[in-house]
Amino acid sequence: MKRRTLLLGGGAALAAGGLLWSNSGQVALSELASRPRLSYPPLIDTSQTGRFSLQAQRGNTSFYKGRPATTLGFNQPYLGPVVKLKQAEVSASVHNSLDMDVSCHWHGLLVPGDVDGGPHQPISPGKTWQPALPITQQPCTAWYHTHIHGETATGVYAGLAGGLIVADGEDDARGLPSDYGKDDLFLVLQDKQFHDDGTLAYDQSMPSLMHGFSGETILVNGQIGAVAQPPKGIVRLRLLNGCNARIFTLHMQSGREMHLIATDGGFLPKPTALDEIRLAPGERADVLVDFGDAGADALVSRADMNAGMGGMMGRFQRFGNFLAGSSFEVLPFAPTGEKARIAQLPERIGPDLPDANDVEVSQVRQFSLDMPMGPGMMGGGMMGGGMMGRRGMGGFAMAINQRSYDMQRIDLQVERGAVEKWQIFADMLAHPFHIHGVSFRVVSENGGAVSAQNYGWKDTVLVNQSVELIAKFDQPAPPDLPFMYHCHILEHEDNGMMGQFVVV
Ligand code: C2O
Ligand code: CU
Ligand code: CU
Repeated sequence: MKRRTLLLGGGAALAAGGLLWSNSGQVALSELASRPRLSYPPLIDTSQTGRFSLQAQRGNTSFYKGRPATTLGFNQPYLGPVVKLKQAEVSASVHNSLDMDVSCHWHGLLVPGDVDGGPHQPISPGKTWQPALPITQQPCTAWYHTHIHGETATGVYAGLAGGLIVADGEDDARGLPSDYGKDDLFLVLQDKQFHDDGTLAYDQSMPSLMHGFSGETILVNGQIGAVAQPPKGIVRLRLLNGCNARIFTLHMQSGREMHLIATDGGFLPKPTALDEIRLAPGERADVLVDFGDAGADALVSRADMNAGMGGMMGRFQRFGNFLAGSSFEVLPFAPTGEKARIAQLPERIGPDLPDANDVEVSQVRQFSLDMPMGPGMMGGGMMGGGMMGRRGMGGFAMAINQRSYDMQRIDLQVERGAVEKWQIFADMLAHPFHIHGVSFRVVSENGGAVSAQNYGWKDTVLVNQSVELIAKFDQPAPPDLPFMYHCHILEHEDNGMMGQFVVV
């Protein structure tokens, strides 16, 4: 018996999604019929116009019917449209109609620091920011989100995020699904905590700052319990982890393979069949799934590795065994039976990747992702408050190389065009490490070989113990508008696990 079947066998009636599993662990098509149908974010295709506009706004979202919550979004009450960009200069316009600063960082776009949208580029209430984005990179799935220092976690949690697709119009030639919302499905994966009245809960207690905030309710594209209806054949899932802190370990409930075709920064040379994919906050994975048998299935995840390890079960005790070992529903699929455009997996997709170990580097730098306390203090007693509760996060800032983020301090200077090796070391938890302005290659993980899912171009990588990566810094970033590097657990980032660098 396969492990996942075993795990799911008795796992009925999860509070979170409410999916009903049959005894065999297979999702039952009949149960899915009554559930809402998944919708996709509106698409803004800039390939004709060369421009797009976003407006940060407040709105009401009924995640639960009849129980509206106050949320934030771009152009809509919660989250934003998916913007499709061609390889050209694209004019963006971001208007802020909120009563607080927001920014719009293009996570995954390789653009200069002066249009990157990080913490140094707040858009004041009532103002409009109009950067020109020179898109020269290869096709990929990326995203945008607010990045105001100290307010990124709450802003993204409330909904200030959306998807980006860089496309070159060649997907048909590659044999890849590209029909948005039909066989090319953008999936923003998030988790939330709700009050009984349907409003969003976000708790800033010490444990949730330490681990990052996560909720028990899984949302896909802002919807709870919805069902995707793919055609019969090959479907592309653009998976984006838009959570504040939750790390997914995704697999198909039936054991169906996921064929990884692209990572954060672009295509792999050919599809790579994977049983499961670990997706940390900020990371994207494009996978092909074959629904040619038209059988019902579900994307499910194993427990968050940061929640269950190292005696850090404190806040999850009420979920007990569920979180300790079994899988939970992320998104069920009920294929329509309609024939998909593509029936066969393509053999080749992108160009061969250069051997990342083969390049000469001009610098080796080390980064330790520092949590405020030693492991002993993470266990039982401290979790409930005590010393941390009194002093708050201020006295226990997160840091990189012992230095907490300071907007006024430039941490590094990188020569433009330089190739560097960065060695990242994680403290206590696994941390997703993200660098602005580059796509990098991972050359080792925990001192060993690179996992298949991290073989391609990345801009965010989960550092369990250690990761070595190689990046070429082609985009310029001046001292007044530097690039960031940070942990993408947003509570860690906001509390100082971030640094900034110039590229000159
Ligand atoms: Cu997705 Cu610096 O951020
Ligand atoms: Cu970024
Ligand atoms: Cu972190």
